Amino acid sequence: MTGSKPEPGSGLLHFAVCENAGRLVLMKEGLVKAEFWLQRWREGSTPWNEGVPNAALRRHLDCLNLQPGDRVFVPLCGKAEDMWWLHEQGFDVLGIDLSPIAGREFLGAHGLAFTETQHARYVLIESPGFRLFAGDFFALDAGDLEGVAAIYDRAALVALPPPERQRYARHLTELLEAPILLISMEYPEHEIEGPPFPVSEQDIRELFGKRRRVQHLAEEDIIERSNLRKRGVTQLVEHAYLIA
Ligand SMILES: C[S@@+](CC[C@H](N)C(=O)[O-])C[C@H]1O[C@@H](n2cnc3c(N)ncnc32)[C@H](O)[C@@H]1O
Repeated sequence: MTGSKPEPGSGLLHFAVCENAGRLVLMKEGLVKAEFWLQRWREGSTPWNEGVPNAALRRHLDCLNLQPGDRVFVPLCGKAEDMWWLHEQGFDVLGIDLSPIAGREFLGAHGLAFTETQHARYVLIESPGFRLFAGDFFALDAGDLEGVAAIYDRAALVALPPPERQRYARHLTELLEAPILLISMEYPEHEIEGPPFPVSEQDIRELFGKRRRVQHLAEEDIIERSNLRKRGVTQLVEHAYLIA
């Protein structure tokens, strides 16, 4: 195992990485370092990307009571096809991901021309119907998210190790009062080192329950179609929640 010391001023303390079968694995007690994700994007290694719109999103979007033209915020958006599907349903999409490659690849894959503008806290990648921030979610302020009517989180909360989850939930709910459709997952914790990290219903209630009403909408066994099987996961259940 090789460990790294916290980088002064990085704001990302206590991270530690170890080498496991040639792959970087993040220790559960650590905070995931931005460089981990940026490197994955540079290498084109994005196994979390479903490539099709998420089934639970399609099933449960109605819970958000959106009107045509409403703006949906997708934190830690990657290049998820979910954003395209939301666009096709007539919504305006606002996303953020650390890497500009995510936004570029997403818009490029759909043949959309886009502009990129450098701002103090992020690069803004825009195309009609899409505003994609390349930067740190935790640096967003309420002004960046003006007009957002709903939030869609798939594989965002579960991408963050436990110490960062509370910060994520607090920042998201302080930024916006909008309802959240949240898709998380659970697997036997000991089977792999995250990300993704398993998040239970109790975790969700502890994270959001004081400020919002949490409703468990559905669960689905997704092990057969998940590439986490290759990493040794034997049981995998996806959960959908409405947090309003
Ligand atoms: C597991 S992926 C999920 C992506 C997308 N939601 C999906 O379903 O395909 C997590 C994403 O979060 C991004 N990310 C991690 N930490 C972030 C942060 N602090 N701010 C913005 N994006 C972040 C990573 O670059 C990565 O693309």
